[in-house]
Amino acid sequence: MRVVSGIQPTGNLHLGNYLGAIKNWVAMQDAMAGGDTCLFFLADLHALTQPVVAADMAANTIEMAATLLACGIDPDRSILFNQARVAAHSELAWLLGGTARVGWLNRMTQWKDKAGKNREGQSIGLFTYPVLQAADVLVYQATHVPVGDDQKQHLELARDIAAKFNTDFAVDLFTLPEPYISPAAPRIMSLRDGTAKMSKSDPSDASRINLVDSDDLIAQKLKRAKTDPEPLPDTPAGLENRPEARNLVTIFAALSGRTPADVLREHAGQGFGAFKPVLTDLAVATLAPIRERLTAMLTDRESVGVVLRNGAEKARSLAAPTLLAAQQAIGL
Ligand code: ADP
Ligand code: NA
Repeated sequence: MRVVSGIQPTGNLHLGNYLGAIKNWVAMQDAMAGGDTCLFFLADLHALTQPVVAADMAANTIEMAATLLACGIDPDRSILFNQARVAAHSELAWLLGGTARVGWLNRMTQWKDKAGKNREGQSIGLFTYPVLQAADVLVYQATHVPVGDDQKQHLELARDIAAKFNTDFAVDLFTLPEPYISPAAPRIMSLRDGTAKMSKSDPSDASRINLVDSDDLIAQKLKRAKTDPEPLPDTPAGLENRPEARNLVTIFAALSGRTPADVLREHAGQGFGAFKPVLTDLAVATLAPIRERLTAMLTDRESVGVVLRNGAEKARSLAAPTLLAAQQAIGL
């Protein structure tokens, strides 16, 4: 089994990123048996599909890598690197550009949604990034790729491109990757309004718990998190139309590795005056060690850079034979 997954590098990660994405990566890494490998990359090339702030790029990459390491990605077991340092991604993407059809990309709902009515004004990268995504996984002969609902269509595209390349050039080169099925990741909502996603782009810092927040700040934000005056129900059905209450129960469940139903069985009848302090203790117990590791790494960015460089070197050597075979198949 070889699992490949990427995440765009951003700074200031929050509890939603941790519980909704990074924790799953760590679980995936821990699920690998001998001989299986996870490759995790920071998708800095994919960041070019949006306006670039060049001055932030390097810092975001280091901060994202430091966050992943602090959360438990282990560079001795997994390969962690940034995409721009492994040229084979871009080279294979170009080769696959000869195979992918404009009609296939035109059908991508992400393209339609992100481009809206102004297709002519979009970057070529926004249109073709699913081809780069195909290269990201095919270049490593990935057997499995974790995908959320919004990326299922792109994985199908990668399989279509791989199959057409294999057929067109009469080779048995590319592995067709399957979706990696992991437990559904929770969606964490804003602490100010239980119906918006917790996000770094929310202008209110009180709406989210950042992974660098101190214990006191975590406590303060949870204390002030919007709730309602009702006690907790005894089943998840009772949380319907109570988005703020449901969000805090979701966070509690995700932090403790239990289901919302289990959490409610234990806390039914409690008001938030009693529930929030227990939730705070749980959040601090989980996040304080992550913050301490993260803060230490952010004061030694050079070491994080070394981890990324070593990861890129391993990734390059895994990618090289497939890139060469693709060139040879085409006659290059
Ligand atoms: P943001 O919304 O803060 O900009 P990103 O879009 O960069 O976060 O998301 C990075 C990863 O974190 C993605 O896998 C995304 O699904 C996950 N993620 C982001 N926000 C949340 C959230 N509130 N709940 C669960 N997962 C989230
Ligand atoms: Na976002």
